[in-house]
Amino acid sequence: MKKLLITGASGMLGGEILRRTNASMNVVGACHRSPREGLLQLDFERPDHVKAAIQESGFTHIIHCAAIRDPDYCLKHPEETDMVNVRASRVIAEAAQAVKAVLCYISTDYVFDGNNPPYSESDAPCPINVYGKSKLAGEQASATVDNHLIVRIPALYRTDLGDSANVLTKFAGLFADGQTLHLDAETVRYYTRTEDVADAVLFLLEQKHRGVIHVSADEQTTKSAFARMAAVHLGYGPDRVVDAPSPSTGDARPHNSRIDTALYRSLSGPHMQSPSEALPAAST
Ligand SMILES: NC(=O)c1ccc[n+]([C@@H]2O[C@H](COP(=O)([O-])OP(=O)(O)OC[C@H]3O[C@@H](n4cnc5c(N)ncnc54)[C@H](OP(=O)(O)O)[C@@H]3O)[C@@H](O)[C@H]2O)c1
Repeated sequence: MKKLLITGASGMLGGEILRRTNASMNVVGACHRSPREGLLQLDFERPDHVKAAIQESGFTHIIHCAAIRDPDYCLKHPEETDMVNVRASRVIAEAAQAVKAVLCYISTDYVFDGNNPPYSESDAPCPINVYGKSKLAGEQASATVDNHLIVRIPALYRTDLGDSANVLTKFAGLFADGQTLHLDAETVRYYTRTEDVADAVLFLLEQKHRGVIHVSADEQTTKSAFARMAAVHLGYGPDRVVDAPSPSTGDARPHNSRIDTALYRSLSGPHMQSPSEALPAAST
């Protein structure tokens, strides 16, 4: 029987993957500062503990979701970002290789500079912010494992508004407070449903394809356009969102880091709903 470790299982994507696994696998979800019943506490500041937890438990598969994923936080906390996103990824890769496990590393479209989209799996990464650089270093560590899969994904949201880390939940709370949101209408985004990405990751683990693969919905929006769509579906007026320029503070963001998904589509993986398809189902 497969034995699967999911790091970051207390997070948005790792939690969704955990919920979608089935009884054909023996699954262990790991967390750090957000302990939950049934989750293994794994602190990346203790590399020996992480290594031992992997090597002594007979994992055949690892999905490495845990990361610091807020680019502005990464800019302000480069040492913590390096520890979590880079050094811990190296430790996990070494341990995965030692036990000959399949390592699936979750990465990001922010490994590209955003100047020449769309980006295919063979395009050379060129990150422009601390977060993107750290995730690329995590990819490079993961690529040392014989049996590795690197899944690059764009900005995520969930249609289930129960999760406070979900961008849609944040928008819903602000609309309910009566606020009008002034949001970036310049930076291009391809918002993708976390639920669909979780299905795609579990599907890809079962496939023969190894190496890098891009997974994304293909509807072009901006933060502003996405929030306006959400406002309308949640019963508020479109005027609750006002177009604004890209923020001038925080770390740089790629202008348009669209990733090409022809390879994923050629494998006939689960459908990635566009926000236009998915948002009508958004619920609290
Ligand atoms: N969300 C997005 O829009 C997006 C877009 C592109 C790529 N990604 C990638 O997708 C993956 C999952 O993202 P997400 O949105 O699910 O992230 P998230 O909700 O912020 O969850 C992050 C997870 O990492 C764990 N973690 C953080 N620091 C840790 C440490 N020191 N030791 C052990 N675990 C630690 C957290 O555990 P605790 O909470 O228990 O501390 C949490 O489970 C990440 O690799 C991210 O780079 C995300």
